[in-house]
Amino acid sequence: MTSIMVIGTGYVGLVSGACMADFGNRVICYDIDKEKIAALERGVIPFYEPGLAELVERNRAAGRLSFSTDLVACIADSMVIFIAVGTPEGQGGEADLSAVFGVAGEIGRHLDGYHVVVQKSTVPVGTNRRVAAIIREAAGPEARFDMVSNPEFMREGSAIGDFLRPNRVIMGVESERARELMREIYRPLFLNETPILFTGIESAEMIKYASNAFLAVKISYINEIAELCERMGADVQVVARGMGLDGRIGAKFLHAGAGFGGSCFPKDTKALVTMADEQAVAMGVVRAAIAANERQPERAVEKLAALAGGDIAGMRVAVLGLSFKPNTDDVREAASLKIIRRLREKGARERAFDPVAGANARRVLPDLDLAPGTYECLDGADALIIVTEWNEFRVLDLQRVAALLKRPLVVDCRNIFNARIMADAGLRYASYGQVDEEAR
Ligand SMILES: NC(=O)c1ccc[n+]([C@@H]2O[C@H](COP(=O)([O-])OP(=O)(O)OC[C@H]3O[C@@H](n4cnc5c(N)ncnc54)[C@H](O)[C@@H]3O)[C@@H](O)[C@H]2O)c1
Repeated sequence: MTSIMVIGTGYVGLVSGACMADFGNRVICYDIDKEKIAALERGVIPFYEPGLAELVERNRAAGRLSFSTDLVACIADSMVIFIAVGTPEGQGGEADLSAVFGVAGEIGRHLDGYHVVVQKSTVPVGTNRRVAAIIREAAGPEARFDMVSNPEFMREGSAIGDFLRPNRVIMGVESERARELMREIYRPLFLNETPILFTGIESAEMIKYASNAFLAVKISYINEIAELCERMGADVQVVARGMGLDGRIGAKFLHAGAGFGGSCFPKDTKALVTMADEQAVAMGVVRAAIAANERQPERAVEKLAALAGGDIAGMRVAVLGLSFKPNTDDVREAASLKIIRRLREKGARERAFDPVAGANARRVLPDLDLAPGTYECLDGADALIIVTEWNEFRVLDLQRVAALLKRPLVVDCRNIFNARIMADAGLRYASYGQVDEEAR
């Protein structure tokens, strides 16, 4: 049983800690936020992630998972220290590494005996060498530790499944002792033959950014194709299906819509471009993906204006979905907030509903008009914009939607419906790049 400490109990730290406990390790989750730790000790999970409450409870009951705000005691008790603190976007698009470097200094000041320090936060290439230097400087020349880069690829909303059954695990490791400890921690994954790639530290750091940016490029690519489809009478859903059947391309991340958001793609693409700037490398593909993405939320409002005959001033618009994607309450860089701000700029007002993200959205927009449910949100609205593809919106009763809306106008930012179904319900519809081919 390897003893592990996880620093930072956000989406990544808490899910990783609970899953590593489930693998049979003894895990203490530490956070600087004392209220968060107190809530976790009472069994309250600080964010929405399906299955997490049960996983935490099961591993706490088994004595493998605990929470603490005592950094010194945690370090003394743990052979392996995972860092999973935030690395948000800084002023100039670079990753803000202040939390990571702060934690490194703390670790160094309290290091005693041999430890492995594992970086799970997404950090630019070269950061882990700097982290190791900070630890060494604080701990003194006698310090004995190894640094590992173990970037995380979990998706919010399916984070537990992604951690327990990943496509791959990447480990930038430079010592045999650290490699053996990492094998111990991830033993169940070695046993079930998950691809585990041991690399150098810089390569592990780069794999994370290169992967996220690639997926972002795929999304922006299909969004630009969708815009062209709209002008030229092709249907992007059909086009994406036809492309995706080619194994070299693959069907995933070819869904046209209001663009990517969330806590990773927007900041990680910008951090990659900043790295490229520092090295005088063009990185034009990723820059173009960022620029194309920034246009997508605004296009939803343009589509609504076109349906409404030009002017949306004075309209009250029902907005369904606030989280940046379904099955999470995370609203960081969510298209919904950009759309709502744009609606307001154009003189319209929102009335919004989300199954779980309303409170988080209101923290960003304190005067957000929130409805208690889907159909209450629609009641008396002048139009509907569907922003997040929660399952409950996929099965909307369209006759009821038509009856509740004052004007039958629907913009579908995730292409979950189509023009034919909407027309049958008496609704006027705009999507991202779909056309009704049968109507020709
Ligand atoms: N959210 C995701 O889906 C995801 C997926 C893969 C990788 N990542 C990366 O993982 C990292 C963490 O992301 P997140 O979404 O979990 O962030 P988060 O904001 O949800 O959580 C960060 C946590 O760290 C804590 N923290 C900050 N400074 C601290 C300190 N000095 N000591 C102890 N705790 C501290 C905060 O209180 C918070 O609980 C980021 O680098 C992110 O890019 C995130």
